Amino acid sequence: MDQQTTASARIIDGKAFAAALRERIGGHVAALKAQGVTPGLAVVLVGEDPASEVYVRNKGVATAAAGMQGFEHKLPADASETELLDLVARLNADPAVHGILVQLPLPGHLDADKVIDAIAPEKDVDGFHVQNVGRLATGMDAMVSCTPLGCLMLLRDQLGELSGKEAVVIGRSNIVGKPMAQLLLRENCTVTIAHSRTKDLAAVCRRADIVIAAVGRPKMVQGDWIKPGATVIDVGINRIPAPERGEGKVRLVGDVDFDQAVQVAGAITPVPGGVGPMTIACLLANTVIAASRQNGIAPPADLAY
Ligand code: GUN
Repeated sequence: MDQQTTASARIIDGKAFAAALRERIGGHVAALKAQGVTPGLAVVLVGEDPASEVYVRNKGVATAAAGMQGFEHKLPADASETELLDLVARLNADPAVHGILVQLPLPGHLDADKVIDAIAPEKDVDGFHVQNVGRLATGMDAMVSCTPLGCLMLLRDQLGELSGKEAVVIGRSNIVGKPMAQLLLRENCTVTIAHSRTKDLAAVCRRADIVIAAVGRPKMVQGDWIKPGATVIDVGINRIPAPERGEGKVRLVGDVDFDQAVQVAGAITPVPGGVGPMTIACLLANTVIAASRQNGIAPPADLAY
């Protein structure tokens, strides 16, 4: 009999997972406070990019909700490199600050690499400093970039053991693609990093038990690129016009064509509500880890990765 079945993937609820993680982090913060340590996170924003302002505000709210101390530093869009580097140096030297995040992108006249390089590696809760990148790549304790870390937590929760799985990471950015590949390699996955020059990306994707899409192109990954039953993690946050919502309105979509992929995948993250909420939760986790290490306290085992 020719029966038409429409499979439907499990929807990975990143919002609920992140809420539970933040709850646990709140407990760890309370335990640190009982030992005289209040984890402190400093966020630096240069200029008035509206999207960055929203992110920074959200970070401030999440920091306070977890019982941590938040420090917000705003510099004007025309701040000089020296001003920014001086601020980073003050934060490096401040014992109440355990984590430092300089919101990217920076205005064009500022060299992001130079600024990241100036952050004390042990306070680099973004995991962007070359020392942390190198430590991750060589299997040492490192601060790990928050978004890939969040993806890994979701994958472990879905799949348990990742060893031996075929993972395809689409995108080779320093913030997501490369650290994601390193984390999956550390889990003993067979890892392919695909990018804009990859030949026959669809065929490469079809091999994957795990697909991580982090390219920043709306709905690029098609349903027939997905191996039936694969786990799909969509890191993309793209704003596309949504005239059905009214003139000038937009909506968020990922890098994966969700409506297609959900028919084929075994599990998939939605956008919004998938990876996004994990990033801030992991930033808080990294701040707890940093505060612990800086005070000679072992980081909480459930936050270890
Ligand atoms: N801008 C967008 N995402 C991020 C992030 O994870 N860290 C920093 N520092 N800036 C960002």
